[in-house]
Amino acid sequence: MSPKAETYEKLTREYRDIATLGTCEAILSWDEVTYMPEGGAEHRANQKALLAGMFHQKATSPAIGNWLSELESSELAKNGHPQAANVRELRRQYDKMVKLPESLVTEITRVTSLAHPIWVEARKKNDFKSFLPSLEKIIELCRQKADAIGYKEQPYDALLDDYEPNTTSAQVERVFSALRADLVPVLEKIVGGTKKSPVEIVERSYPQAAQQAFSEHAAAAIGYNFGTGRLDVTTHPFCTQIGPGDVRITTRYNEKRFNDAFFGVLHEAGHGIYEQNLRRDEFGLPTGEACSLGIHESQSRMWENFVGRSHAFWEHFFPAAQKHFPEALGKVSVDDFHFAVNDVRPSFIRVEADEVTYNLHIMLRFEMELALIRGDLQAKDAPAAWNEKFKNYFGLQVKNDAQGCLQDVHWSAGLFGYFPTYALGNLFAAQFFAKADTDLGGLHAQFRKGQFEPLRKWLTDKIHVHGRRYPAPELVQQVTGKPLSAEPLITYLKGKFYPLYGAK
Ligand code: CO
Repeated sequence: MSPKAETYEKLTREYRDIATLGTCEAILSWDEVTYMPEGGAEHRANQKALLAGMFHQKATSPAIGNWLSELESSELAKNGHPQAANVRELRRQYDKMVKLPESLVTEITRVTSLAHPIWVEARKKNDFKSFLPSLEKIIELCRQKADAIGYKEQPYDALLDDYEPNTTSAQVERVFSALRADLVPVLEKIVGGTKKSPVEIVERSYPQAAQQAFSEHAAAAIGYNFGTGRLDVTTHPFCTQIGPGDVRITTRYNEKRFNDAFFGVLHEAGHGIYEQNLRRDEFGLPTGEACSLGIHESQSRMWENFVGRSHAFWEHFFPAAQKHFPEALGKVSVDDFHFAVNDVRPSFIRVEADEVTYNLHIMLRFEMELALIRGDLQAKDAPAAWNEKFKNYFGLQVKNDAQGCLQDVHWSAGLFGYFPTYALGNLFAAQFFAKADTDLGGLHAQFRKGQFEPLRKWLTDKIHVHGRRYPAPELVQQVTGKPLSAEPLITYLKGKFYPLYGAK
């Protein structure tokens, strides 16, 4: 073995250890929100803090920096080598971690963990003022973080980079403003259409046990592997990789609404399918990790919406749904059921929003975040700014901050820069889905027959196996032959919802 290859081996072993440490944190966190008794909270916090310290220490060790420098001057770092992508991405990751002073990292952790219960109370009591001091502190810390990391154009870029690497605010602004210009009139036409969704159908009685059985049946059918996964109950649904061969998802059940658990499970299963099909032999290295949060979300939104809310999907699954829910669905037609799960209307709460209005919720948050981080908007003025934007976007008057700027957990957790990835996920999903549809010769005909494997395999071959080998913008270009644009999503929404709603 050449000296460089030996160094690469050392680096690989070190990152496998770091990743393994990360997965210890993952299983503790998963247990914390699924099965841990209340009394375990304090010791669990100690366990996690200890691991976080060990993780940070290992991930910022000077030895890694030296190995990377050594490799960067070698053949291994030449473009084209699969190792080159790992060296490039590890350097990005390492430099960023080293630039962040440990005192700042600790302070962010401390302030956000204190802010969480304050936010929960503020939302419950609809009292923005009690959350304001926390929000001000968090924004200040996010600015410090951006300054420490550095940026070319504006501080928000440094924050966005944590979730959507290689993408700038300016790029997001460009694609969002194109999307907004098209989306607003499309929504008006859909809402003003001649037909109304029989949404009452999905608000009948859906017993939890049957929901679980049916959701698991559908998740397995689209390719989520229960041999390397499982489904449990949590307040906030998520997907987590405990390690190669163990990718878990969670959901919550509402017996009065079919959509929450079923489409939630398809969504998390979409994340899970991505994680389950990453390269196991590259575990711990960037090429064995998800590309970006936007690409991750494209996988979940694709299975949830582009597949799971399609008419073809229900042509296949509706008889099984009727068997699981004979009382609610015994006398319902597949057309009415499909229309019911595709109810579109402007509403206050992002997580309950439909496919058409969802992206508007994200654009509003992105505009707010940009202004808050730039300092164009003061935290104390956030509620008024939110409400004004909401009126503009949705034509709705926000009645209280709980249904306004206090609704989401992200700001209390310091996750400025995260929201755009949700809408980017929808845009990526539309562009990938259109290409897969062409490549595979008509996906809906396959869904009608219950065939989901060709799409799953296409996604694995084109996206999953690369991990972070290509930055997201490059991956999109490579997979679809075009840069990211709003056009495929708009075409998809019109094609699906205009006929459904009798809109022209
Ligand atoms: Co998601």
